[in-house]
Parts: sequence; structure tokens; C-alpha cells
Amino acid sequence: MSILSDFLREVDEGYAVINTSGIVVYANDFMIKRHIIKENWEGKLYYECFNLLAFVSAIAECIAEKKRIKIFVEHDQMEYSVDLFSAKDGILLRITDITQFKRYERSKKEFLANVSHELKTPIAIIRSILETLIEEEQDEKKKSMLERALRRSEDMKNLVEDLLIITKLESGEEKLRKENLSLWDVVELVFDNIKEVAQNKKVQLINRVDENFKIYADQEKLALLLLNLVDNAVKYNKTNGQVVVSAYTQDAHAVIEVSDTGIGIPKEHLPFVFERFYRVDRSRSKEVGGTGLGLSIVKHIALSHGGKVEVESKEGEGSKFRVYLPVNYSTL
Ligand SMILES: Nc1ncnc2c1ncn2[C@@H]1O[C@H](COP(=O)(O)OP(=O)(O)OP(=O)(O)O)[C@@H](O)[C@H]1O
Ligand SMILES: [Mg+2]
Repeated sequence: MSILSDFLREVDEGYAVINTSGIVVYANDFMIKRHIIKENWEGKLYYECFNLLAFVSAIAECIAEKKRIKIFVEHDQMEYSVDLFSAKDGILLRITDITQFKRYERSKKEFLANVSHELKTPIAIIRSILETLIEEEQDEKKKSMLERALRRSEDMKNLVEDLLIITKLESGEEKLRKENLSLWDVVELVFDNIKEVAQNKKVQLINRVDENFKIYADQEKLALLLLNLVDNAVKYNKTNGQVVVSAYTQDAHAVIEVSDTGIGIPKEHLPFVFERFYRVDRSRSKEVGGTGLGLSIVKHIALSHGGKVEVESKEGEGSKFRVYLPVNYSTL
């Protein structure tokens, strides 16, 4: 027991135990040093000695609902992740300092945003030079090499544009212009953009959305979200396959479904497909092109609208992506 209490005294995390009557029965030194709990906590009720309202409400909720709770708290210029575990005799609270981690995350995002921004202009210049050279080149061999370079610079341009979209959405810098839209119209617009690729692959695009179905979203962002989902549904489909877009309302959310009859995604990859640069089959993905940012954009657009995205898939049979966006009843 003394090893455990020595460990808890030294450890760089905060621990506290509150019994079922709401009395604090344990708090380690970390909790006092970081001014999370008052020094004279012993035998006191939790709301008398915790210094922050966020802790008091989380503890109250954990006692009342008897469930695990996770919150994030900023205090004295530090950032903490707080876990509350409910047990028979009371609750255990664990606090981890995530300040450094958050700083690292922020600087990584800033770096990515700056690099992407700085690359935009040189790429545009390279592209316009290549275009001019292609026009003037008479030698077929040289022309085809220049065309290859132009295609690669197109990939670079797309990558930088995708990164800029993600960093803007993540930072909340991108303001949404939400309005009531006809989803049917947006789907038609997206299909129009992709119909040539679909025809070449003999994939049928089917819009099953009701013509009266309204959706409250930023039109440009919603189109980009759907374009990425439909692009994948075509790209990872089989010849003579289908892509169906449909929609319905469920629990105050508009749900958009994009399903395909394609190659599907193996179960073990499903939790990661929304991560940046994640691609299921690298060698295959190289053949079909792309950077692995599409689904990350989809996720960020859904999140920035207060929604979410889910995927269901069976290898060899197809995939179904569901986007949930909150319904705005006040504007209907
Ligand atoms: N409808 C789908 N069917 C099968 N696999 C899919 C589907 N959608 C996505 N995936 C898998 O998830 C990976 C990530 O998709 P994502 O759209 O983020 O990237 P990408 O399509 O490879 O490239 P990008 O969209 O940036 O051009 C893909 O590489 C593919 O392996
Ligand atoms: Mg994609």
C-alpha cells in the first residue's frame, strides 16, 4: 500500500477519490500543486474544495449518472484531459497534463498551413510555364515529358489545395455560409462533375434523393463533401457497378447515404480511413491516383456543420458512407 501511495505522490498525473456521499477521501500532491483542489481538502465535500466549476459539474454528473466521463479543461494556462470513473464506493478522477501535446499539435497544424500556403504560388508558376512550353514544343518526345510534368504538378496543386481546406476547417477560420438547399440539386451538380469518369468506368450514378428534401448547409462545402464520397464510390467500384445517393431524416439529423457496389474496405482498416493520408492498399491506390485526404475533408466538413460521418463496408461487396447533418427547424 505504501508503494502505491509513494507512486501516487510522485506521479505526474492527478488522482482523486470521492465517496458516494460526495466527500473527497483522496487527492495526490499533483492536484494541490496545480491548484486544482484546495490544500485542506480532507473530509470536505467535493464542491467545497475543487477550484473549478468544470470539475464540480463533471463530478456531479458522474455521481448522478454512474457512467464514465471525459472532459477537457484549461486552467492556469495549462490544458488537462480529465477522466472520471464511476465505481461502487464512489468515483475516481484522473487528470493528465496535455499542454505539451496540444502545443505540438498546434505547431504541426500551423506548419502544415504555412507550407501549403507558401507552395501555392510556386506551383501555379511552374504550371503556367509548363503549359506555355507544351504549346510551343514541336518535338513529340519532349512534349510528352512536359505533359507528364504538368500532370504531376496538377497532383501537387490538388494536394496543396486539399491541405489548405483541411487546415482552414480545423482552425475554424473557414466561415460557413449555411442555407436551406435542395439536396437533389447538389447531388446532380456533383454527378455532373464526375459523370465522365463514371462513364469510362461503366459505373452508374443514381440520385434517389427526394426532390423536396432540404438540407441546411454551406453549398460549396456540401458539394465538396459529396464530390469526395462519390469520387471514391466510383474510383473503388467495379465495372458495371452502381453508386446510389439517398437521404432521410432521423433524430433531428438529415442523413445522406452514399453507397457503392465496389471493392469494399477490410474491417481492420475501417477505423482509420478518415485519417489524413490513410490509404487501404497503397500499391492499388497509386494506380487510381489521389493523396488520401478526401475522407479527411469529408470528416472535417461534417464536423464543422455540427455533424458526423460513419462508414459501413463489406470487403468485395461495397461500402456505405453516412453523413449526419443537424436539421435547422427554425429555418424550415
Ligand atoms: N467507397 C470506397 N470503397 C472502397 N475503399 C474506399 C472507399 N472510399 C475510400 N476508400 C479507401 O479509403 C482510402 C482513403 O480514402 P480518401 O478518399 O481519403 O483517399 P483517396 O481516395 O485515396 O485519395 P483522394 O481522395 O485524396 O484523392 C482510399 O485510399 C481507399 O483505400
Ligand atoms: Mg478519395
